[in-house]
Amino acid sequence: MINTKNGILHVDGCSTVSLAQEYGTPLFIMSEDHIASKCKEIREDFLNKYKNTRAAYAGKAFLTLEMCRIIEREGLCLDVVSGGELYTAIKANFPGGRIEFNGNNKSIEEIEMAIDYGVGRIIIDGTDELLLIESVCRKRVKKVNALLRISPGVDSHTHEFITTGNKDSKFGIPLDPNIFSSVFRSVLSSQYVNLLGFHFHVGSQLHDNESHLKATSMLLDLIHDLKMTYGFNTAELNIGGGFGIRYTEEDDEQSYSYFLDPIMEMISDGFSSIGLPCPAVVIEPGRSIVGNAGVTLYSVGTVKNILGVHKYVSVDGGMTDNIRPALYEANYECVIANRTDGFPADDDEAESEPELVTISGKCCESGDILIKNVLLPAPERGDLLAIFSTGAYCYSMSSNYNKILFLPVVMTSSGQARLIVKRQSYDELISREI
Ligand code: LLP
Repeated sequence: MINTKNGILHVDGCSTVSLAQEYGTPLFIMSEDHIASKCKEIREDFLNKYKNTRAAYAGKAFLTLEMCRIIEREGLCLDVVSGGELYTAIKANFPGGRIEFNGNNKSIEEIEMAIDYGVGRIIIDGTDELLLIESVCRKRVKKVNALLRISPGVDSHTHEFITTGNKDSKFGIPLDPNIFSSVFRSVLSSQYVNLLGFHFHVGSQLHDNESHLKATSMLLDLIHDLKMTYGFNTAELNIGGGFGIRYTEEDDEQSYSYFLDPIMEMISDGFSSIGLPCPAVVIEPGRSIVGNAGVTLYSVGTVKNILGVHKYVSVDGGMTDNIRPALYEANYECVIANRTDGFPADDDEAESEPELVTISGKCCESGDILIKNVLLPAPERGDLLAIFSTGAYCYSMSSNYNKILFLPVVMTSSGQARLIVKRQSYDELISREI
């Protein structure tokens, strides 16, 4: 996976110096070995351990044609949230029945595309979406399998921008009886929807299982009420994603079992006490599969020492390939990839003293800082800087701000590297302009 050999950072046995020579910088490197090992963990801790379970990889974290193929090969399902993600899955021939379609504002075109491709589940976000689904199904004389997304109103301990389960949320249906019952009745009585159960997602980058457990417990109460009031038997629960990863040594990373064992126990006890058979349980992990698989490789350019203030080390990318520090104050770790042992390029006798530097991007924006105050061995123009844990929500949240080009992506595995996304060219950059 990620280690250092003779002072050079390697990913899956591939030297980052060679990757930079072959593909240029800035460059996203994705470790397929890491992705495969996370999928294996999911199979061992969840899919093989509990019957009637599925894991739908949340494509929003990182989605390309090749990623769809890897997810299919690993036996996972796929969670998509837009026509673009669905189109990518279709072009990769991802099996329709293994796709779950989420989103709080699906357009009629997206719903048509999903139904025509035969997606396995539509996660309905509210009544007006139900009307759109019905109009599409009526024309096609089709019925879709669906879950209803609820917002359980629990607070999760993460950045406010990435909590999604609050009562005051644009996602799902609040569990307020006045709001919920009427939505539920419309979905239940629809002749075009086969309502199987419920979905929630409490937030992202979580390090404790408290909010998942609170939401599950609230959902179990609801499931009980719905059985008593409507005789509705819940057959499926989707408990979303959100399993946190380690970005810096301050984060602790919990196993899938830590989250899922108590949830599965709660669900199994809850259902048996209601007198219902255990439902199908689905998870939607995104970040935990790809986050630590990614390394962004940059070249160091300008080094500016403002005495007594900061030493700015500028790299050839920035907030256009990683918006997370600017958007969420996210923290990352990095190394000089061509001399992880700290020896400067022109002098391999003396190890250079580590100095406190700030890594800045190249955008015309003071907030374009990737890492504040990090100790590095005197970075110089031409050094390679590797930032770790950039596999999730970096490539997928990239922009062309300042007309900076989208990065290529290289996938590595067992000492081999292959290009899975080409670098954007200047011609492509303006190709849609008239
Ligand atoms: N399912 C649903 C319905 C979601 O909304 C999300 C993430 C996931 C699954 C996957 O969550 P994960 O396992 O990756 O935590 N851009 C933010 C993260 C936003 C997450 C939104 N929803 C970031 O960079 O931290």
